[in-house]
Amino acid sequence: MKKILAPSILAGDHSCLKDSLLSAEQDGRSWIHLDIMDGHFVPNLSFGPQTVADLRKHSDLFFDVHLMLDQPQEYIEPFAQAGADLISIHVEPEYDIPETLEKIRSLGKKGGIVLNPDTPVEEVFPYLNDIELVLCMTVVPGFGGQSFIDSVLSKVRDLAALRSEKGGSFLIEVDGGVGPEHVEQCLAAGVDVFVAGTAYFSRGQDDRQAFAGSIEN
Ligand code: DX5
Ligand code: ZN
Repeated sequence: MKKILAPSILAGDHSCLKDSLLSAEQDGRSWIHLDIMDGHFVPNLSFGPQTVADLRKHSDLFFDVHLMLDQPQEYIEPFAQAGADLISIHVEPEYDIPETLEKIRSLGKKGGIVLNPDTPVEEVFPYLNDIELVLCMTVVPGFGGQSFIDSVLSKVRDLAALRSEKGGSFLIEVDGGVGPEHVEQCLAAGVDVFVAGTAYFSRGQDDRQAFAGSIEN
């Protein structure tokens, strides 16, 4: 399976997110990760569908939209219309997950399920046939710049084993505190998509390419 480095635009300069997007595109990235926070499910706010729609006008990158919302089912349509390619929803809040995944699919988008670091991997099992990606959070979501939680990789290993056993095709993504120093252990565990905010946007061009090369080559 192809490996992907998805820069998280949360770590870009919010006075000119377009520049961060275009710099990732010029670096040769194929995905961009967009974090949506509601101040309820996580104690922070980021940006909404208008920002995603405006960014969409400037780029053909694959838009990997991570909804950190208490009521994600209310926002599938706005983010689909804004130009999301993949929409990931958390398993922890109380809402109708199957119906929400169906909504994502009916709008022609790929679907993902997200697990917080403390959420058992079994919680995603009922949905594995209905999604294209499982995101294992490697920090407690809400803020960039936190430290990577290594123990989450046991869930990645479980998912990778299950996938090869059952012949599944979902991608496994990690998000939070990911830097070059984690690439080797993540690849060994079975990670396909590496989200990196701070570790990507804080680096110069050459370092970014080396980071990306260690994943994608
Ligand atoms: C955390 C977000 C992450 C964040 C990652 O709540 O979901 O996508 O942008 O940023 P870093 O790589 O700085 O931890
Ligand atoms: Zn994220």
